[in-house]
Amino acid sequence: TMNFENIIARTHGKVGLITLNRPQALNALNDALIDEIGRALDGFEADEAIGCIVITGSEKAFAAGADIGAMKDFGFMDVYKGNYISANWDRVARCRKPMIAAVAGYALGGGCELAMMCDFIIAADTAQFGQPEVKLGILPGAGGTQRLPRAVGKAKAMELCLTGRTMDAAEAERAGLVARIVPADKLVEEALATAGKIASHSLPVVMMIKESVNRAYESALQEGLLFERRSFHSTFAMQDQKEGMAAFIEKRKPEFSNR
Ligand code: CAA
Repeated sequence: TMNFENIIARTHGKVGLITLNRPQALNALNDALIDEIGRALDGFEADEAIGCIVITGSEKAFAAGADIGAMKDFGFMDVYKGNYISANWDRVARCRKPMIAAVAGYALGGGCELAMMCDFIIAADTAQFGQPEVKLGILPGAGGTQRLPRAVGKAKAMELCLTGRTMDAAEAERAGLVARIVPADKLVEEALATAGKIASHSLPVVMMIKESVNRAYESALQEGLLFERRSFHSTFAMQDQKEGMAAFIEKRKPEFSNR
């Protein structure tokens, strides 16, 4: 286990679990907290035994946004020179291992954006999503205006960003922001079980799947298909492809070696 002030990082078998832990501020995301997520991810990514990462918050809040107190007095030169909200947040988006956001309560502003940087969201029935920045006289600064329309379409993303209203878990699932809703008291258990399932597979194959699905957002269809096919071809150079197929034929469980 690593020592942090604003998060708790633990392992559960092959899963790395990051729990945001600033309850007094509903897990408002200050620089120190985001830096700590980055360092926890460095540790989990360097550890070959870890196959999937879960980020969660508390029952009341995944995260209520970037820390308003910390940024209220910033001037343009502070945020421009410091590349505010990009420098350390990019570490999260750059994670190559799969990441699940397990969201209960508020996921607002930067909290919603952090959840959307993960590969998918499992939501408690208590989850509330929104981009309320407009109410503060700013706009989303960590991808909200870009990732939300890709997830829920332009109409709903526009409405949410322009009004600042929140949507509940059921609406978020219908709209495609959320992969699955679970009862609040089962959230972390369900997320760990899902992550454990992912981590039981071949890690390099899982990483290639993540890269390939992400290509669907960043390229034209033919390019994405070519990227997928080359990745698919490359699995035939792996021991894990031989093992996975042999295990199927022999009607036994595969033993992947991440090779
Ligand atoms: N930043 C700093 N502190 C925050 C915070 C935030 N984003 N959200 C909540 N807190 C603090 C509150 O100030 C309060 O602290 P005190 O007890 O010291 O007063 C504590 O957390 C509890 O919050 P509330 O008393 O407000 O709790 P509530 O249950 O009445 O309301 C809430 C909950 C509706 C989520 C409300 O806290 C809220 O509206 N928070 C702000 C949401 C927001 O605007 N987020 C966007 C931030 S900007 C951003 O994220 C930019 C970006 O794109 C990266």
